[in-house]
Amino acid sequence: MISANLLAIFYLISGILFILALRGLSSPETSRQGNLFGIIGMAIAITVTFLSIDNFSSGFLYVILFLLVGGSIGAFIAFKIPMTAMPELVAGFHSLVGLAAVFVAISAFISPEVFNLGTSGNIKLASLIEMSIGAAVGAITFSGSIIAFLKLRGIMSGSPITFPGQHILNLLILISIIVLTYFLCLNQSPNFFWSLIAISFLVGFLLIIPIGGADMPVVISMLNSYSGWAAAGIGFTLENTALIITGALVGSSGAILSYIMCKGMNRSFFNVILGGFGGTDQTSGKTNKEQKPVKSGNADDAAFLMKNASSVIIVPGYGMAVAQAQHALREMVDSLKKNGVKVSYAIHPVAGRMPGHMNVLLAEANVPYDEVFELEEINNDFANCDVAYVIGANDVTNPVAKTDPQSPIYGMPVLDVEKSKSVLFVKRSLSPGYAGIDNDLFYRDNTLMLFADAKKMTEDIIKNL
Ligand code: TAP
Repeated sequence: MISANLLAIFYLISGILFILALRGLSSPETSRQGNLFGIIGMAIAITVTFLSIDNFSSGFLYVILFLLVGGSIGAFIAFKIPMTAMPELVAGFHSLVGLAAVFVAISAFISPEVFNLGTSGNIKLASLIEMSIGAAVGAITFSGSIIAFLKLRGIMSGSPITFPGQHILNLLILISIIVLTYFLCLNQSPNFFWSLIAISFLVGFLLIIPIGGADMPVVISMLNSYSGWAAAGIGFTLENTALIITGALVGSSGAILSYIMCKGMNRSFFNVILGGFGGTDQTSGKTNKEQKPVKSGNADDAAFLMKNASSVIIVPGYGMAVAQAQHALREMVDSLKKNGVKVSYAIHPVAGRMPGHMNVLLAEANVPYDEVFELEEINNDFANCDVAYVIGANDVTNPVAKTDPQSPIYGMPVLDVEKSKSVLFVKRSLSPGYAGIDNDLFYRDNTLMLFADAKKMTEDIIKNL
């Protein structure tokens, strides 16, 4: 068994490694190293926690057994999961963090003496407050993440589910959580404790059902933040500094990410939380495809246009991820550069299905970082560019976000691809993207639709180049 001082030092080292991990993960260039720091930090934290236990009871074998089973399932899922299913995986994992927090709070409430929190019916006030917060935030995270998972997986409709008086009801329930916590602290009745948990489960459910399609990314990072705070709350109950540090890091980085994403989508955080915005409006922006002619072309036309261009901007989106077209894309760009064409990549903050989705894929294909630009850095360049090659992107280019206040994506900054001389759209059909709305750009004079799988079309263009 290691001493408390040594334990504290090791926890501090893990905390520092987690901070370095977050720092590394903030750029694709350093993300692998960041990931490694995180793994080492977590390995240290788990090992020293085991070493700090003085008497191993037989029940402890179960802990090791479940750790092995859980770890193996986690590793198996992580290896198998396609990149496109990452957001729902993250939502699913957050639900488990929330549930773990609830379980720890329940154990602490039932057997406070084991955790040095007092005795049943005589638990320390500060501990009661900590475990109430941990249990409530954990339960909200659990049920909210389950709904987010079902919505992202398509098992439940992505449209907002709203009803009259929803906000008032949410407010009343949130107030009742505070009231229940107050009474729990006053008389420590298990009835208040169980009611608190049950109501918190309901809040998570009610908070997430009204949030629609385009706002789901913000919800995921918000739930990420909640799961961190739940862990931090439980860290106080368990008097475990590593859990407090890790929880606070996850909580604050999730909150900052939510803020950045709200800014990227031009939404106020408050609006997203209140829900019912950003839904899949099936009518707004919808045009009758039958009546509008589109110009479609083939790989030969695309190769001709790009070879004769002096500058090309690539706009990748979710379809590139589905088709796994990033390697072919890089090859195509190499070939264009050999022909003297200037090529850059324009990345929208919510392109794809998770923050940084496109950056990760382009990094995987070894695209140089100095060719990749964020929306605000490159948006003015479309006006001076010959060809915009939009590969599997749709919503992030849709000008309806600038013109139609009824549109679910109204106000979201979009890439001004239509300002380039020619726009090449690589997608399989005229189907809408994630937000479920038609894109007027498909019917414009300077647009050439390239109907095909993104990888197949890009490979064909390479042959023609
Ligand atoms: P989307 O608007 O979803 O459009 C993707 C397009 O890719 C679709 O229209 C689809 O058209 C095409 N596609 C699918 N498979 C393809 C394939 N194999 N080959 C070629 N094309 C293919 O994507 P986007 O422009 O990247 O916008 C992202 C959207 O997702 C936004 O609405 C955003 O709010 C939302 N969202 C983002 C995140 C984050 S954090 N990034 C998370 C969740 C949701 P076809 O079917 O016609 O091929």
